[in-house]
Amino acid sequence: MTSRKKISLTGIQPSGRAVSIEEGGAIHLGNYLGAIVPALELMARHDYEYNGVYFIADYHALTSQRDADALRQNVRDVAATWLAAGLDPSRTLLFRQSAVPEVFELSWIFACLTAAGQLERGHAFKDALDRGQAPSAGLFNYPLLMAADIILYDADVVPVGADQRQHLEIARDIATRMNHVYGEGTVVVPEALITDAPIVPGNDGRKMSKSYGNTIPLFAPSKALRSAFLKVKSDSTPLETPKEPEGALVYDLYKLVASEAQTQELAAKLRAGNYGWGHAKQELYEVFEARIAPMRERYIQLRQNPEEIDAILEAGAVEARKRAQATMERVRRAVGIL
Ligand code: TRP
Repeated sequence: MTSRKKISLTGIQPSGRAVSIEEGGAIHLGNYLGAIVPALELMARHDYEYNGVYFIADYHALTSQRDADALRQNVRDVAATWLAAGLDPSRTLLFRQSAVPEVFELSWIFACLTAAGQLERGHAFKDALDRGQAPSAGLFNYPLLMAADIILYDADVVPVGADQRQHLEIARDIATRMNHVYGEGTVVVPEALITDAPIVPGNDGRKMSKSYGNTIPLFAPSKALRSAFLKVKSDSTPLETPKEPEGALVYDLYKLVASEAQTQELAAKLRAGNYGWGHAKQELYEVFEARIAPMRERYIQLRQNPEEIDAILEAGAVEARKRAQATMERVRRAVGIL
């Protein structure tokens, strides 16, 4: 067998309400530092040791999104964010999940091979039941569509957060069963790469999350970004008093956005006294502003030119469809449809 470069695949959910350019887009600092930066670093590592496949999971988003315009806008927002943050579409495939309808064909084949009981034990489905909601069949089938997302592109590794562990186990189970029933080599069995991404605190100290309302929009205009950072919770220790940086929220955030040297410098200033939390927040803002400003410019430019985003996504989809069709040929033949 000829050796091929390993494929690393990730799906990105374009969920939530649509957020305008002026408000800084739907992606917040927590998404950026906790998911985007580690994913891009993984891709660029060892001069792109993996072939990257990144898609925007718009069909998955339908499990919670009923606003068509918001979904359309979020897909472009997410794409613009990743591109501005440094995803290189000439080296990493980027496309919409929905541009490759073969994913449904595969997910049906998987459905016929999966015990309903396994899906009943799915976290998202069970949680919805426990909360007294009436979960949709879409939520029930979510893990099947996700398994198809992964297996359709012959993914070897799937970098995901710990919350996706169960979904990856289901995908592995399905791939293993496919090969057991229809012959070894029918599909590639994927492996989860659980990323230990930092948990980014929001301005109140709890995990940064839209549901807590404590987020800092990634591409907020510089003035709004400054006021968001100035709102980070701190105590009222007087200016003159020396301060312990460890355990202080401003410092925790600073560590995540600044260099090692800058971080040590800030710690020294805080410990020396005559340096207030307000100064530290200003410093935090300045360091982050310097880092994000060029990306924000590119982000705004992309969002103002949605045709440019769509063209990049479509170019990715052309290649993705080619790969998907090759997998489906193999799978159809194996199951007796061809
Ligand atoms: N379920 C993932 C999330 O919520 C998104 C996703 C959809 C995904 N399909 C995928 C992630 C395939 C990895 C691989 O984050």
